[in-house]
Amino acid sequence: MNTTDKIFVCGHSGMVGSALVRALRRHGYANLVLRTHAELDLTDMAAVARFFDAEQPDVVFHPAGRVGGIVANSTYPADFIRDNVQMEINVIHQAWVHGVKRLLYFGSSCIYPRACPQPIREEYLLTGELEPTNSAYAISKIAGVETCRSYNQQHGTRFLAVMPTNLYGPGDHYDLQNSHVLPALIRKMHEANTRGDAEVVIWGSGRPRREFLHVDDLAEACMMLASLDTASFDKVLRTWRYPLINIGCGEDSTIAELAQWVAAAVGFGGTLRYDTGKPDGTPQKLLEVSRIKALGWAPRIGLREGIAATYRDVLKEKLF
Ligand SMILES: NC(=O)c1ccc[n+]([C@@H]2O[C@H](COP(=O)([O-])OP(=O)(O)OC[C@H]3O[C@@H](n4cnc5c(N)ncnc54)[C@H](OP(=O)(O)O)[C@@H]3O)[C@@H](O)[C@H]2O)c1
Repeated sequence: MNTTDKIFVCGHSGMVGSALVRALRRHGYANLVLRTHAELDLTDMAAVARFFDAEQPDVVFHPAGRVGGIVANSTYPADFIRDNVQMEINVIHQAWVHGVKRLLYFGSSCIYPRACPQPIREEYLLTGELEPTNSAYAISKIAGVETCRSYNQQHGTRFLAVMPTNLYGPGDHYDLQNSHVLPALIRKMHEANTRGDAEVVIWGSGRPRREFLHVDDLAEACMMLASLDTASFDKVLRTWRYPLINIGCGEDSTIAELAQWVAAAVGFGGTLRYDTGKPDGTPQKLLEVSRIKALGWAPRIGLREGIAATYRDVLKEKLF
């Protein structure tokens, strides 16, 4: 990728897409082509083909997707698998047809088996059963990885699937029905402060361990990957059967530690009560990230500092 390339970022209004746009601009990539969901529905095969015919992008980032929490995933599995598979096939196929030089496709750590060894290596893909509550979503994301692999094998394309860990930062979703644990904790403690509540109830024991990466660190990792020289990029594609690379910070924290850091950032001085009647989920989820780190990338935003910055952003943007 170089600064004269025309770069298409799908889903640029989303959390990952907007971080990619910020990073691209920071790095001097000004030739960006962006379409909102309303302007281009990526599930519409004919519309995607017309768009690629007209715009002829050189590089594509594909983080667009139907994304949601456990409630949405369990209620609408058919919508999740249909929309995500359609988008992947449409974007990846047109990228090949139009000779796109590089494509980065975004999956998620839920593609890995629910009970796989920790930390999770790329090679654990397809070695066991998936978490049943979001299996439709996970299988749609695995289909994207296989689509990249198949096009690379049959057509010699350079399409890479990146698997980020849990992300947080600007553009996150704070709706309590759909949000992930970190934005949910921020919102609960902020609202407890506003109401003057003495305690906040947190689901589960607080003991499960989870990994978090600031979305701007993810975007920097993607800048590095997309601008690798050809030989190095090809090496990443061919390290293993699947053109797949994990992106995480390589460290996890307990939910209880996370809750304390959120309380400090938000200024919530009340009690954190753990509702052990609620399920904990898997005890640990940590990506093994030696491959991305060996390429010279390392996250820059520490979790405590990132949470504080995220809360400042919430207040500034009046997000809830
Ligand atoms: N957030 C995380 O913690 C996390 C962690 C690991 C991996 N990821 C992966 O990263 C990717 C992006 O996640 P995110 O958090 O950025 O999600 P997001 O904030 O929900 O963004 C998704 C984007 O896709 C767009 N989109 C959805 N359906 C579309 C369609 N039919 N046509 C065109 N655009 C469409 C959305 O536009 P509208 O909003 O207008 O519909 C939005 O811009 C996902 O694939 C996810 O699996 C996310």
